[in-house]
Amino acid sequence: MLGNFSYCNETKIYFCDDSLKYLNDELPKYGKNVQLIYGGGSIKKNGIYDAVVDILKKNGKNVIEDAGVMPNPTVEKLNEGVKIARENKVDLLLAVGGGSCCDYAKAVAVSVNCDDDPWQKYFIRFEEPTCKILPVGCILTMAGTGSEMNGGAVISNHATNQKIGHVFGAEVMPKFSILNPKFTFSLPKRQMVAGIYDIFNHICEQYFSGTDDNTSDYLAEALMKSVIHSSLIAVENPEDYEARSNIMWSATWALNTLIAKGKTTDWMVHMLGQAVGAYTDATHGMTLAAVSLPYYRYIMPYGLAKFKRFATEVWSIDAKGKSDEQVAEEGLQTMENWMKKIGLTMNISELGATADMIEGIADKTFILTGGYKVLNRDEIINILKASL
Ligand code: NZQ
Ligand code: ZN
Repeated sequence: MLGNFSYCNETKIYFCDDSLKYLNDELPKYGKNVQLIYGGGSIKKNGIYDAVVDILKKNGKNVIEDAGVMPNPTVEKLNEGVKIARENKVDLLLAVGGGSCCDYAKAVAVSVNCDDDPWQKYFIRFEEPTCKILPVGCILTMAGTGSEMNGGAVISNHATNQKIGHVFGAEVMPKFSILNPKFTFSLPKRQMVAGIYDIFNHICEQYFSGTDDNTSDYLAEALMKSVIHSSLIAVENPEDYEARSNIMWSATWALNTLIAKGKTTDWMVHMLGQAVGAYTDATHGMTLAAVSLPYYRYIMPYGLAKFKRFATEVWSIDAKGKSDEQVAEEGLQTMENWMKKIGLTMNISELGATADMIEGIADKTFILTGGYKVLNRDEIINILKASL
């Protein structure tokens, strides 16, 4: 039975091949001081930085630079961003980049007017903001996380080997997000495919749970098919606008809270991947790819009917004359072939994980209970060993 819920998404999306112009419509809604958040410099190379600064200046804004947000933003960088926002009495946090910049902007947004230590309050104690939250806008340059239309923020703490996400409420979601598929053309191929697998896995995390007949699962299947189809085109021709636009929009819908409505969700691949990321600082999508198959093969018997449906509906496996187990395994095998074909990293050793890290990674893996099998520590260790 479809569960009960309320649904509202706060983020206004501008999606087109010329969408940056809509920044002119949004900027007048906010005060003068804009903290311009970006990463390691890709936006300077591809010209997006100049175009954004030009619009900010024409709208009479004071631009406060906040560069150097690293992939997997750290707690030290978060504290620095909070300091910049406080010192400059910032009115709008404008993130220009991928999920890391957007997540970071949200984490700064909830911390600027808060006296507590943000890491302890939001990422250890999982408290909700009680202070005034700064508005966030996003200009997306990488498709994957869905951060452009959700309340998630993931922060890494290398001192403690922790990478922890807090899913904030609607009040923390970006007020607007500007999506131009052409902005993703300059992504290195490895980042593009890592993003593609992140999208695919977000959908899996919300699909592999529950036994009821649920509209969300049908939506998930349609999104998965679109991602698979477009990924194969984009890998061949990264400048195929149709494929890149479908990937970008699928990423947004994969994690803007819609397809989790009315059902339970799993998220154990992300818990495993995040713990691997905490130890290795590896690319998020690759950490997911590397642990996925050992995990799904292990839980398959506990959710056999859904894995069979995944095989027939998403991967077009012909079930005639085969046992449910055979059909389900063929589905996972076809998924594995697709993952290898698009160039994903299939084991955690290639990401820098070593056998002596396994126990530590297992200890840093949050155990969630919404999927087909609630794992214990030994099972987590076995899955991690199979992922090496
Ligand atoms: O830093 P720059 O120089 O900009 O380069 C970035 C970065 O090195 C580069 N890049 C981005 N757009 C580009 C580009 N290079 C050339 N051309 C472009 N157009 O790509 C690299 C990766 O960027 P990043 O933002 O780190 O990637 P992604 O979007 O995958 O974000 C990853 C972070 O998001 C978190 C992850 O854990 C990780 O910390 N997640 C956030 C979620 C959420 N908010 O809901 C959910 C996800 O599951 C995920 O956990
Ligand atoms: Zn993800």
